[in-house]
Amino acid sequence: LRLIPLFAVMAFLLAGCGSDRLSALQPQGPVAREQLFLMKLSLSIMVIVVAVVFAIYLWVIVRYRQRKGQENMVPKQVEGSHVLEIIWTAIPIIFLLILAVPTVYYTFQHSADQRANKDAIHVKVTAHQFWWQFDYPDYGIVTAQNMVVPKDKVIALELSSTDVKHSFWVPSLGGKVDTNTGPVNVLYLKADEIGLFQGRCAELCGASHALMNFTVQSYEETEFQKWVDKMKAPVTVAAANKEGETLYKENCMSCHQVSAQGLGLGPNLNGFASRPYIAGILDNQGPEKEENLHKWITNPQDQKPGNKMPAFGQNFGGKLTDAQIDSIAKYLHSLK
Ligand code: CUA
Repeated sequence: LRLIPLFAVMAFLLAGCGSDRLSALQPQGPVAREQLFLMKLSLSIMVIVVAVVFAIYLWVIVRYRQRKGQENMVPKQVEGSHVLEIIWTAIPIIFLLILAVPTVYYTFQHSADQRANKDAIHVKVTAHQFWWQFDYPDYGIVTAQNMVVPKDKVIALELSSTDVKHSFWVPSLGGKVDTNTGPVNVLYLKADEIGLFQGRCAELCGASHALMNFTVQSYEETEFQKWVDKMKAPVTVAAANKEGETLYKENCMSCHQVSAQGLGLGPNLNGFASRPYIAGILDNQGPEKEENLHKWITNPQDQKPGNKMPAFGQNFGGKLTDAQIDSIAKYLHSLK
């Protein structure tokens, strides 16, 4: 009972959540909607079972309580009852069937529909400790951390991993599906709203598992096409950012590409300035974006322990001064 005020406070605080679109309870696409229906269905069945069991339980302890003068009475002993046994076997079977039919239907019908969909957009998703790569083979584009998709189109995701097992989950669109180093898993998703949806790694994968975040940005189809064109266009660098570009080439380019299809050890940084988050976790659009990127380049281990990027700040064993780091950050923030 003492915990009730605590729960009330938590309920109040959590009531503000949901605007960041990280809720399986506010589906923004057909897969998430079906999953929510299945959640509600199984929850309803559980509530019915609990209510009936408790009702019988209460009735039994009241009806068969020990009464005055019956202290030594032994009630009638019953051994086996075919009727009861059939009833308590049949009822769970019925409940399981009610759950299984829509679950199996959604699972197979859905993937069959999507597999036949010629318009589907293919995205190869590769999970790394602790970031996500999105490869669009039909468009010749590779990006990271923020998957851009057109609204109302089926996205055919081919999921795999380069190191350990991770799991791809975008609660408001659907999932989650493991990414393995061996067999490729396929997941079909569709966003029928425009917006930014939060994604998470849902399989314990190392020190920064809880920070292995990504986003899915859905646009109108024309906006999506603009994004594709922008990603494929040659990168132009203003004179003011040439110094930053040179420093980037000297220090970052062995891992990070800035090109349409650049594959490297680390995330491709083409279009970096348009990404909502730095490394999936630090704000990249608000007034603190410069400071955040500076913090990240200075010592990434502070922000995401166990990731593979070394520190570049002089105080952390790196060789770049604060001014040089700012210069690189300025260049990266010019990559719209
Ligand atoms: Cu990747 Cu958890």
